[in-house]
Amino acid sequence: MSSRIEALRQAFRAQFGGAPSFFVRAPGRVNLIGEHTDYNEGFVLPMAIDRDVRLALAPRADRQVHVFSLNFQQTDRFSLDDLQQTEITAWSNYLRGVAWALQNAGFTLTGFDAVIEGNVPLGSGLSSSAATELATVTAFRALGNLAVDPVQAALLSQTAENDFVGVKCGIMDQYISSLGQAGHALLIDCRSLAYEAVPLPTGVQFIIVDSGVRRGLVDSAYNERRAQCEEGAQRLGVTALRDVDPAQFERLAADLPPLVAQRCRHVVEENARVLHSVAALQRGDVAAFGLDMDKSHVSLRDLYAVSHPALDTLVEIARAAPGCLGSRLTGAGFGGCTVSLALTEHVQAVVDAIRDEYPRRTGLTPQIYLSGAEAGAGVITAEA
Ligand code: GLA
Repeated sequence: MSSRIEALRQAFRAQFGGAPSFFVRAPGRVNLIGEHTDYNEGFVLPMAIDRDVRLALAPRADRQVHVFSLNFQQTDRFSLDDLQQTEITAWSNYLRGVAWALQNAGFTLTGFDAVIEGNVPLGSGLSSSAATELATVTAFRALGNLAVDPVQAALLSQTAENDFVGVKCGIMDQYISSLGQAGHALLIDCRSLAYEAVPLPTGVQFIIVDSGVRRGLVDSAYNERRAQCEEGAQRLGVTALRDVDPAQFERLAADLPPLVAQRCRHVVEENARVLHSVAALQRGDVAAFGLDMDKSHVSLRDLYAVSHPALDTLVEIARAAPGCLGSRLTGAGFGGCTVSLALTEHVQAVVDAIRDEYPRRTGLTPQIYLSGAEAGAGVITAEA
């Protein structure tokens, strides 16, 4: 029996005085390449990680949802007939928002009692919010036997985050939390919402490092980047920056205001880089993939201006360690995590270099996660 499931079971008994009927989970994610491309209808390559958000739950006969958070040691109670944002239990806005989005889409929901617990670090850029949303959709889907397919689950979760929580994120985090596949990253086309599963290469390992620098996505910087991309697309006369390739961009860039051109250049080149790097992975060229990760970081730092000195330091330390093939910030940026690719036999040396040098150079403590690619959201069937 996993200790996390046991802890959920015990907390459920303590809170609600009975046994939960079932458990659901949804994972966080790390994006390997393709940053700030999703809301430009472009390409991304994330994988679901082995950290997730879980709920133990049982249906209720009324239209109430009662949830106790093990992480926050708080209870939230709300009615499915009166869904409002709350500032008191901010974590529950993701659950409330998902209920709101599902009902707006016409689904009839069942109330429930639940205990929620997660080990996706909060605010670190590994998508604890998306994991909470997808765990909630999975709960409502199972309780009401709702016909919500995994892509729709991702879209409704994004709607919850965009329009209820108020964060204008793209589709990547919710999509991978919903559709992730064990052993694979997903190449997602954020326009068609089709994906291709890309097997993770052997002989290498992705190393995720949390810089310890926190900066919420609610920050206006993210929305400002989105607005600059929209302005660029509009001036270039295209639906989205996805429609421009690097060669076309060279011819058109001079017509754009300099800052808008700089932001757009990142997006246009990053999109091309995703396809280039996936082709490299598919022919087993992990070195070429690593170089694209490096280029992605430089572009995010210099053109898109979403890095942070702590992230640059982490990337520098990783890159200087022998056996590291590439390193970049992952997620929105401004803080959060980096992801690095290392030959398996050198992983320990890269980890040691980070543990040793990063605190010395920044005064911050890194959290290091080694994760393979895991499956997306679902009801927990076996002991997990
Ligand atoms: C955040 C958003 C995603 C995506 C990334 C940047 O994680 O939630 O939709 O835009 O930033 O690639």
